[in-house]
Amino acid sequence: MSGETTLSGPDLSRGIALSELQDGGQLVGHAEGEAVLLVKRGQEVFAVGATCTHYGGPLAEGLVVGDTVHCPWHHACFSLRTGEALAAPALNPIACFDVQQRGEQLFVLGKKQKKHEAVTVKSGLSSVVIVGGGAAGHAAAELLRREGYVGQLTLLSADESPPVDRPNLSKDYLAGTAPEEWIPLRPPKFFASQRIDWCSARE
Ligand SMILES: Cc1cc2nc3c(=O)[nH]c(=O)nc-3n(C[C@H](O)[C@H](O)[C@H](O)COP(=O)(O)OP(=O)(O)OC[C@H]3O[C@@H](n4cnc5c(N)ncnc54)[C@H](O)[C@@H]3O)c2cc1C
Ligand code: FES
Repeated sequence: MSGETTLSGPDLSRGIALSELQDGGQLVGHAEGEAVLLVKRGQEVFAVGATCTHYGGPLAEGLVVGDTVHCPWHHACFSLRTGEALAAPALNPIACFDVQQRGEQLFVLGKKQKKHEAVTVKSGLSSVVIVGGGAAGHAAAELLRREGYVGQLTLLSADESPPVDRPNLSKDYLAGTAPEEWIPLRPPKFFASQRIDWCSARE
């Protein structure tokens, strides 16, 4: 299921002519050794990682809708502004790059620094239990942490193992072409580092 990224197109850090990117258009090049997708929407130009963080789908072949891009393989959706994975099945964001216009040329600068200004959930909640340890429950737990929820967080499951990539079970994994390491959505240490208590109701 994973795609291999080979760099193609111009080195965007050296600049391209503004005229190469039409309004509504997109272009693939590279910067900092990574494939980069440039998208022009009106007066804005976005530069993001061109490879889907799910299984490496080519985002340049996906659909741009407003300020989002949808992966053509399994339809994960990413924000062009922040790189955030807005819709399943991707969990990780794509990189965002700074873009600068100098005269009639566009340059892709370095990667944007992640802003650690997580919004603290102001609901007063101090404990959350999510029932269901599948992709949906897992994504909810991750998002709560990313959005700044710092209280107790429990993921209650009827499964014997932490959340897994179920679609892979009946495809590459069953065919023997996906290693077992690909099956968990996150490694066990992730739950500890994010302070997510994964509990199996079977225990
Ligand atoms: C083999 C397989 C292949 C698939 N292939 C594809 C595919 O190719 N494309 C695609 O789009 N979708 C595919 N799917 C479907 C996809 O995996 C599901 O849509 C997705 O897993 C749904 O996620 P979920 O979190 O909503 O539910 P689930 O993954 O079903 O998770 C439900 C969770 O709730 C827990 N639970 C249930 N009852 C209780 C209880 N009483 N107390 C506590 N916890 C409980 C379960 O243990 C489980 O952890 C596949 C599914 C399977 C099984
Ligand atoms: S590879 Fe992009 S959604 Fe799966």
